[in-house]
Amino acid sequence: MARDEGLLTTTPLPEDERFEIGLRPRKMADFVGQEELKERLSILIEAARSRSEPVDHVLFSGPPGLGKTSLAGIVAHEMGAAFRATSGPALERPGDLAAVLTNLDAGDVLFIDEVHRLPRQVEEVLYPAMEDFELDIVVGKGPAARSIRLELPHFTLVGATTRVGRVAPPLRDRFGYVARLDYYTSPDLAQIITRSAGILEVEIASDGAGLIAERSRGTPRIANRLLRRVRDFADVRADGRIDHEIADTALRVWEVDERGLDKVDRFILEAMVHKFGGGPVGLSTLAIAVGEDPETVEDAYEPYLLQEGLLMRTPRGRVATPHAYRHLGVAAPQDDDPQGQLL
Ligand SMILES: Nc1ncnc2c1ncn2[C@@H]1O[C@H](COP(=O)(O)OP(=O)(O)OP(=O)(O)O)[C@@H](O)[C@H]1O
Ligand SMILES: [Mg+2]
Repeated sequence: MARDEGLLTTTPLPEDERFEIGLRPRKMADFVGQEELKERLSILIEAARSRSEPVDHVLFSGPPGLGKTSLAGIVAHEMGAAFRATSGPALERPGDLAAVLTNLDAGDVLFIDEVHRLPRQVEEVLYPAMEDFELDIVVGKGPAARSIRLELPHFTLVGATTRVGRVAPPLRDRFGYVARLDYYTSPDLAQIITRSAGILEVEIASDGAGLIAERSRGTPRIANRLLRRVRDFADVRADGRIDHEIADTALRVWEVDERGLDKVDRFILEAMVHKFGGGPVGLSTLAIAVGEDPETVEDAYEPYLLQEGLLMRTPRGRVATPHAYRHLGVAAPQDDDPQGQLL
């Protein structure tokens, strides 16, 4: 990303990927939060292990940066299984998937990221593979073409999606467990930040971790990113130690506000309020006004603004809520009553 405004974007930046390798939890015990999900997943894993069977197929859904890929790796780790990763868009043709499937060994975990983006014909190859561990392939062309059936090793498919609504129902139904990840609480995020600080060998006070946690919009990826930015500040403007005051000053420098909104978030709200009279405004019009593509606005920015009650989705478009006006320090149309007679 060329612009520096997207500090809070949930989309991974190249730098995140480098750090995430080191910070990514490998074991269930290192994965903070999502207690109910972890409990169910642990039961699934222990039961499979006790029967010496692969785990049932699992689908993780939820907004970006909440730990879907990490959990997929954890399933493999806890099963002592090999982890093979691919993604929906990478599997363009049925043959691509066939090649992946025929290279699996029994018990392997096959991770398909962005599983909602699998092409339809590829999905159809996946159904019998998931259900019966069988692969039908067509050999030859024209009248000589014939279909042969291959037995596949029993593997575990772990899917991940940010858009569970776009996963075709027949595919969704073939997962034994569909797990939804929720935004994290501040104490959970503070724990993640403290753990990451330990790995990065940064000294951090608990009030410093708490402050960063509150501005991380419920997302571990953002928490880790903010930690790195605060660390930069602490290293060059202080003695490297992070406390409440250092974290607060650093995040002000990076234009992350008390509510965890960054420049782009505020830009979106400002555009709605100042250019479109508070809405309703269509997603693509709004995206053009802020110079982002509609998918980025929808996937990376909107979920948090919705969750915070700053924006609403209506059939006619996006609407800024009174909270949004208050956050920007602008009088909302309905509050526009100098005499206070309506209050
Ligand atoms: N529960 C957690 N405990 C500790 N760290 C976490 C947790 N969840 C996520 N993280 C951290 O956040 C980073 C991003 O998580 P991950 O890549 O698993 O998210 P994702 O849901 O797969 O995102 P995307 O939808 O963009 O693929 C990880 O590298 C890890 O450092
Ligand atoms: Mg991922």
